[in-house]
Amino acid sequence: MAFECDYIWMNGEFVPFAEAKVHFLTSSLHYGTSLFEGIRSYSTPEGPAVFRLKDHINRLIKSAHILGIQDLPYSFEEMYEAALEITRKNNMEECYIRPLIYISVGGWNLSVEGVTINMGIACWKWNNYLGEAALINGVRANVSSFARHHANIMMTKGKVAGNYVNSVLAKTESMRLGFDEAIMLDSQGNVSECTGENLFTVRNGVIYTPPRNSVLEGITRESIICLAKDLGYEVVEETITRDQLYISDEVFVSGTAAEVIALSQIDFRQIGTGKTGPVCASLQAAYSDAIHGRNSKYEHWLDYIYQKEENSLAS
Ligand SMILES: Cc1ncc(COP(=O)(O)O)c(C=O)c1O
Repeated sequence: MAFECDYIWMNGEFVPFAEAKVHFLTSSLHYGTSLFEGIRSYSTPEGPAVFRLKDHINRLIKSAHILGIQDLPYSFEEMYEAALEITRKNNMEECYIRPLIYISVGGWNLSVEGVTINMGIACWKWNNYLGEAALINGVRANVSSFARHHANIMMTKGKVAGNYVNSVLAKTESMRLGFDEAIMLDSQGNVSECTGENLFTVRNGVIYTPPRNSVLEGITRESIICLAKDLGYEVVEETITRDQLYISDEVFVSGTAAEVIALSQIDFRQIGTGKTGPVCASLQAAYSDAIHGRNSKYEHWLDYIYQKEENSLAS
Protein backbone atom coordinates (compact mmCIF):
# COMPACT_ATOMS: atom_id res chain seq x y z
CA MET A 1 0.00 0.00 0.00
CA ALA A 2 1.40 3.38 -1.01
CA PHE A 3 0.43 6.33 1.15
CA GLU A 4 0.19 8.86 -1.61
CA CYS A 5 -1.59 12.15 -1.22
CA ASP A 6 -0.51 15.77 -1.67
CA TYR A 7 -1.89 17.17 1.58
CA ILE A 8 -2.94 16.08 5.03
CA TRP A 9 -5.43 18.20 6.96
CA MET A 10 -3.83 19.04 10.31
CA ASN A 11 -5.60 21.28 12.79
CA GLY A 12 -7.43 23.20 10.13
CA GLU A 13 -4.48 23.58 7.71
CA PHE A 14 -3.65 21.67 4.55
CA VAL A 15 -0.09 20.52 5.26
CA PRO A 16 2.05 19.11 2.42
CA PHE A 17 2.48 15.34 2.82
CA ALA A 18 6.21 15.48 3.67
CA GLU A 19 5.67 18.12 6.38
CA ALA A 20 2.78 16.36 8.16
CA LYS A 21 4.74 15.35 11.26
CA VAL A 22 4.13 15.05 14.99
CA HIS A 23 6.70 15.52 17.75
CA PHE A 24 8.49 12.50 19.23
CA LEU A 25 7.25 13.53 22.68
CA THR A 26 3.59 13.15 21.83
CA SER A 27 2.06 11.14 24.64
CA SER A 28 -0.51 9.47 22.38
CA LEU A 29 2.41 7.84 20.53
CA HIS A 30 3.72 6.44 23.79
CA TYR A 31 0.45 5.32 25.39
CA GLY A 32 -1.86 4.58 22.43
CA THR A 33 -4.34 7.29 23.42
CA SER A 34 -5.32 8.44 19.95
CA LEU A 35 -8.70 7.87 18.35
CA PHE A 36 -9.34 7.23 14.71
CA GLU A 37 -11.80 6.29 12.02
CA GLY A 38 -11.56 4.33 8.80
CA ILE A 39 -13.86 5.73 6.09
CA ARG A 40 -14.18 5.13 2.36
CA SER A 41 -15.37 7.21 -0.56
CA TYR A 42 -16.61 5.69 -3.81
CA SER A 43 -17.47 6.84 -7.27
CA THR A 44 -21.19 7.10 -7.99
CA PRO A 45 -23.17 8.27 -11.04
CA GLU A 46 -23.57 11.64 -9.24
CA GLY A 47 -19.84 12.05 -8.50
CA PRO A 48 -17.71 10.71 -5.66
CA ALA A 49 -19.42 10.21 -2.30
CA VAL A 50 -18.24 9.25 1.17
CA PHE A 51 -20.08 6.28 2.62
CA ARG A 52 -21.82 6.98 5.93
CA LEU A 53 -19.52 9.87 6.81
CA LYS A 54 -21.89 11.22 9.49
CA ASP A 55 -21.94 7.85 11.26
CA HIS A 56 -18.14 7.67 11.19
CA ILE A 57 -17.77 11.19 12.60
CA ASN A 58 -20.31 10.36 15.30
CA ARG A 59 -18.38 7.22 16.23
CA LEU A 60 -15.14 9.24 16.35
CA ILE A 61 -16.75 11.66 18.79
CA LYS A 62 -18.04 8.73 20.85
CA SER A 63 -14.57 7.15 20.91
CA ALA A 64 -13.25 10.39 22.46
CA HIS A 65 -16.15 10.36 24.92
CA ILE A 66 -15.39 6.75 25.92
CA LEU A 67 -11.73 7.64 26.53
CA GLY A 68 -12.93 10.47 28.77
CA ILE A 69 -11.90 13.41 26.59
CA GLN A 70 -14.25 16.23 27.52
CA ASP A 71 -13.51 18.92 24.96
CA LEU A 72 -12.74 18.30 21.34
CA PRO A 73 -11.33 21.28 19.45
CA TYR A 74 -13.62 20.67 16.46
CA SER A 75 -17.36 20.33 16.19
CA PHE A 76 -19.15 17.55 14.34
CA GLU A 77 -19.75 19.94 11.42
CA GLU A 78 -16.10 21.02 11.25
CA MET A 79 -14.83 17.42 11.24
CA TYR A 80 -17.42 16.43 8.64
CA GLU A 81 -16.44 19.34 6.37
CA ALA A 82 -12.71 18.72 6.87
CA ALA A 83 -13.10 15.07 5.77
CA LEU A 84 -14.78 16.20 2.56
CA GLU A 85 -12.30 19.05 2.04
CA ILE A 86 -9.20 16.86 2.27
CA THR A 87 -10.51 14.48 -0.39
CA ARG A 88 -11.29 17.47 -2.63
CA LYS A 89 -7.86 19.04 -1.96
CA ASN A 90 -6.17 15.78 -2.98
CA ASN A 91 -8.42 15.31 -6.02
CA MET A 92 -9.40 11.89 -4.74
CA GLU A 93 -12.51 10.01 -5.81
CA GLU A 94 -12.32 6.45 -4.49
CA CYS A 95 -10.17 6.60 -1.40
CA TYR A 96 -9.75 5.66 2.24
CA ILE A 97 -10.07 8.55 4.70
CA ARG A 98 -8.31 8.41 8.07
CA PRO A 99 -9.11 11.02 10.74
CA LEU A 100 -6.96 10.80 13.86
CA ILE A 101 -7.42 12.69 17.13
CA TYR A 102 -4.43 12.70 19.47
CA ILE A 103 -3.05 14.31 22.59
CA SER A 104 -0.40 16.81 21.54
CA VAL A 105 0.38 18.30 24.98
CA GLY A 106 0.07 16.53 28.33
CA GLY A 107 -1.09 13.02 29.02
CA TRP A 108 2.21 12.00 30.64
CA ASN A 109 0.47 11.34 33.96
CA LEU A 110 -1.63 8.64 32.22
CA SER A 111 -4.72 10.82 32.32
CA VAL A 112 -6.65 12.77 29.71
CA GLU A 113 -7.25 15.55 32.23
CA GLY A 114 -6.05 18.96 31.03
CA VAL A 115 -4.58 17.70 27.75
CA THR A 116 -4.37 19.54 24.43
CA ILE A 117 -6.03 17.71 21.56
CA ASN A 118 -4.88 17.84 17.94
CA MET A 119 -6.46 16.32 14.89
CA GLY A 120 -5.38 15.26 11.42
CA ILE A 121 -7.14 13.73 8.42
CA ALA A 122 -5.32 11.87 5.66
CA CYS A 123 -6.67 10.11 2.60
CA TRP A 124 -5.12 7.70 0.14
CA LYS A 125 -6.03 5.10 -2.44
CA TRP A 126 -6.47 1.73 -0.74
CA ASN A 127 -8.05 -1.12 -2.66
CA ASN A 128 -8.58 -4.76 -1.77
CA TYR A 129 -7.54 -4.85 1.89
CA LEU A 130 -7.77 -8.67 1.91
CA GLY A 131 -6.40 -9.15 -1.61
CA GLU A 132 -7.65 -9.05 -5.19
CA ALA A 133 -9.05 -12.59 -5.35
CA ALA A 134 -10.81 -12.48 -1.96
CA LEU A 135 -14.13 -11.26 -3.34
CA ILE A 136 -14.74 -14.56 -5.14
CA ASN A 137 -12.46 -17.01 -3.37
CA GLY A 138 -12.79 -15.75 0.19
CA VAL A 139 -9.85 -15.85 2.60
CA ARG A 140 -8.50 -18.39 5.09
CA ALA A 141 -8.78 -17.67 8.80
CA ASN A 142 -7.89 -19.27 12.08
CA VAL A 143 -9.21 -18.84 15.59
CA SER A 144 -6.58 -16.75 17.32
CA SER A 145 -4.81 -17.76 20.50
CA PHE A 146 -5.43 -14.14 21.58
CA ALA A 147 -8.86 -13.34 23.09
CA ARG A 148 -10.77 -10.15 22.20
CA HIS A 149 -10.77 -7.45 24.86
CA HIS A 150 -13.05 -7.80 27.83
CA ALA A 151 -15.29 -4.71 27.84
CA ASN A 152 -14.03 -3.74 31.28
CA ILE A 153 -10.40 -3.86 30.18
CA MET A 154 -10.38 -2.06 26.83
CA MET A 155 -13.59 -0.40 25.76
CA THR A 156 -14.50 -2.24 22.57
CA LYS A 157 -16.92 0.44 21.33
CA GLY A 158 -14.16 2.98 20.86
CA LYS A 159 -11.69 3.03 18.00
CA VAL A 160 -8.86 3.85 20.38
CA ALA A 161 -5.38 3.19 18.95
CA GLY A 162 -4.26 1.16 21.97
CA ASN A 163 -7.09 -1.32 21.40
CA TYR A 164 -5.45 -2.31 18.16
CA VAL A 165 -2.43 -3.93 19.80
CA ASN A 166 -4.82 -6.85 20.36
CA SER A 167 -5.62 -6.93 16.63
CA VAL A 168 -1.94 -6.64 15.68
CA LEU A 169 -1.00 -9.56 17.95
CA ALA A 170 -3.73 -11.74 16.47
CA LYS A 171 -3.21 -10.79 12.84
CA THR A 172 0.58 -11.18 12.99
CA GLU A 173 0.17 -14.64 14.54
CA SER A 174 -2.36 -15.64 11.83
CA MET A 175 -0.22 -14.39 8.97
CA ARG A 176 2.86 -16.15 10.31
CA LEU A 177 0.81 -19.35 10.54
CA GLY A 178 -0.14 -18.91 6.86
CA PHE A 179 -3.69 -17.58 7.29
CA ASP A 180 -5.12 -14.33 5.97
CA GLU A 181 -7.23 -13.22 8.94
CA ALA A 182 -7.76 -14.01 12.63
CA ILE A 183 -11.06 -14.72 14.36
CA MET A 184 -11.04 -13.73 18.00
CA LEU A 185 -13.11 -15.26 20.75
CA ASP A 186 -14.35 -13.09 23.60
CA SER A 187 -13.29 -13.62 27.19
CA GLN A 188 -16.16 -16.13 27.64
CA GLY A 189 -14.87 -18.17 24.68
CA ASN A 190 -17.59 -17.18 22.22
CA VAL A 191 -16.94 -15.80 18.75
CA SER A 192 -16.40 -12.06 18.83
CA GLU A 193 -15.00 -10.53 15.65
CA CYS A 194 -11.93 -10.40 13.44
CA THR A 195 -9.00 -8.01 13.77
CA GLY A 196 -10.67 -5.28 11.71
CA GLU A 197 -14.01 -6.77 10.70
CA ASN A 198 -17.27 -7.99 12.19
CA LEU A 199 -18.34 -11.55 11.48
CA PHE A 200 -21.50 -13.22 10.18
CA THR A 201 -22.47 -16.85 9.67
CA VAL A 202 -25.23 -18.37 7.53
CA ARG A 203 -27.10 -21.55 8.35
CA ASN A 204 -30.16 -22.78 6.46
CA GLY A 205 -30.62 -19.34 4.93
CA VAL A 206 -30.62 -17.49 8.28
CA ILE A 207 -27.85 -14.97 8.98
CA TYR A 208 -26.32 -14.88 12.47
CA THR A 209 -23.91 -12.38 13.98
CA PRO A 210 -22.49 -12.08 17.51
CA PRO A 211 -24.22 -9.56 19.78
CA ARG A 212 -22.65 -6.14 20.23
CA ASN A 213 -21.19 -6.56 23.72
CA SER A 214 -17.62 -7.53 22.79
CA VAL A 215 -17.41 -6.15 19.26
CA LEU A 216 -16.83 -2.80 17.65
CA GLU A 217 -20.23 -1.60 16.44
CA GLY A 218 -19.23 -1.73 12.81
CA ILE A 219 -20.90 0.68 10.44
CA THR A 220 -20.60 -1.93 7.68
CA ARG A 221 -22.09 -4.51 10.07
CA GLU A 222 -25.09 -2.28 10.57
CA SER A 223 -25.34 -1.64 6.82
CA ILE A 224 -25.19 -5.39 6.08
CA ILE A 225 -27.90 -6.14 8.64
CA CYS A 226 -30.10 -3.50 7.01
CA LEU A 227 -29.38 -4.71 3.45
CA ALA A 228 -29.93 -8.36 4.46
CA LYS A 229 -33.31 -7.59 6.03
CA ASP A 230 -34.30 -5.59 2.95
CA LEU A 231 -33.36 -8.62 0.82
CA GLY A 232 -35.70 -10.72 2.96
CA TYR A 233 -33.16 -12.56 5.10
CA GLU A 234 -33.77 -13.20 8.78
CA VAL A 235 -30.86 -11.75 10.79
CA VAL A 236 -30.30 -13.02 14.32
CA GLU A 237 -27.86 -11.45 16.80
CA GLU A 238 -26.85 -14.27 19.12
CA THR A 239 -23.89 -15.94 20.77
CA ILE A 240 -21.89 -18.03 18.30
CA THR A 241 -19.46 -20.78 19.31
CA ARG A 242 -16.32 -21.85 17.49
CA ASP A 243 -17.84 -25.17 16.37
CA GLN A 244 -20.90 -23.33 15.03
CA LEU A 245 -18.49 -21.58 12.68
CA TYR A 246 -17.18 -24.90 11.41
CA ILE A 247 -20.67 -26.22 10.54
CA SER A 248 -21.98 -23.01 8.98
CA ASP A 249 -22.99 -22.96 5.33
CA GLU A 250 -21.18 -19.65 4.98
CA VAL A 251 -19.08 -17.35 7.14
CA PHE A 252 -18.24 -13.83 6.02
CA VAL A 253 -16.78 -10.68 7.47
CA SER A 254 -17.59 -6.99 7.03
CA GLY A 255 -15.65 -3.78 7.53
CA THR A 256 -14.93 -0.49 5.84
CA ALA A 257 -11.47 -1.60 4.71
CA ALA A 258 -12.32 -5.24 3.82
CA GLU A 259 -15.93 -4.55 2.69
CA VAL A 260 -17.74 -7.95 2.51
CA ILE A 261 -15.51 -11.01 2.21
CA ALA A 262 -16.20 -14.72 2.76
CA LEU A 263 -14.09 -16.97 4.96
CA SER A 264 -13.38 -20.02 2.80
CA GLN A 265 -11.62 -22.01 5.51
CA ILE A 266 -11.41 -21.76 9.29
CA ASP A 267 -8.79 -23.71 11.23
CA PHE A 268 -8.17 -25.89 8.13
CA ARG A 269 -11.89 -26.77 7.86
CA GLN A 270 -13.60 -25.85 4.60
CA ILE A 271 -16.65 -23.65 5.08
CA GLY A 272 -19.52 -24.51 2.72
CA THR A 273 -18.20 -24.81 -0.84
CA GLY A 274 -14.90 -23.21 0.12
CA LYS A 275 -15.74 -20.14 -2.00
CA THR A 276 -17.98 -17.10 -1.59
CA GLY A 277 -21.45 -18.53 -0.93
CA PRO A 278 -24.76 -17.30 -2.35
CA VAL A 279 -25.85 -15.25 0.68
CA CYS A 280 -22.49 -13.51 0.94
CA ALA A 281 -22.49 -12.92 -2.84
CA SER A 282 -25.95 -11.34 -2.71
CA LEU A 283 -24.83 -9.04 0.11
CA GLN A 284 -21.61 -8.15 -1.71
CA ALA A 285 -23.75 -7.09 -4.67
CA ALA A 286 -26.23 -5.15 -2.52
CA TYR A 287 -23.38 -3.43 -0.64
CA SER A 288 -21.62 -2.57 -3.90
CA ASP A 289 -24.85 -1.04 -5.25
CA ALA A 290 -25.35 0.98 -2.05
CA ILE A 291 -21.80 2.38 -1.84
CA HIS A 292 -21.74 3.22 -5.55
CA GLY A 293 -25.06 5.04 -5.44
CA ARG A 294 -26.84 2.49 -7.63
CA ASN A 295 -29.72 1.97 -5.20
CA SER A 296 -31.66 5.14 -4.36
CA LYS A 297 -33.03 3.49 -1.21
CA TYR A 298 -29.64 3.98 0.45
CA GLU A 299 -28.95 7.46 -0.95
CA HIS A 300 -29.04 8.83 2.62
CA TRP A 301 -25.83 6.87 3.36
CA LEU A 302 -23.88 8.94 0.82
CA ASP A 303 -22.23 12.30 1.39
CA TYR A 304 -21.17 13.76 -1.92
CA ILE A 305 -17.66 15.20 -2.03
CA TYR A 306 -18.83 17.88 -4.45
CA GLN A 307 -22.29 19.34 -4.34
CA LYS A 308 -24.43 17.62 -6.91
CA GLU A 309 -24.94 21.00 -8.73
CA GLU A 310 -21.15 21.38 -9.04
CA ASN A 311 -20.95 17.88 -10.47
CA SER A 312 -23.54 18.61 -13.07
CA LEU A 313 -21.85 21.95 -13.88
CA ALA A 314 -18.51 20.19 -14.29
CA SER A 315 -19.90 17.50 -16.56
C1 LIG B 1 -12.11 -4.44 15.47
C2 LIG B 1 -12.99 -4.01 14.37
N1 LIG B 1 -14.17 -4.60 14.23
C3 LIG B 1 -15.01 -4.25 13.23
C4 LIG B 1 -14.67 -3.27 12.32
C5 LIG B 1 -15.62 -2.89 11.24
O1 LIG B 1 -16.12 -1.60 11.48
P1 LIG B 1 -16.64 -0.70 10.27
O2 LIG B 1 -17.60 -1.53 9.53
O3 LIG B 1 -17.27 0.46 10.94
O4 LIG B 1 -15.46 -0.35 9.45
C6 LIG B 1 -13.44 -2.63 12.44
C7 LIG B 1 -13.04 -1.56 11.51
O5 LIG B 1 -13.19 -0.39 11.80
C8 LIG B 1 -12.58 -2.99 13.50
O6 LIG B 1 -11.40 -2.39 13.64
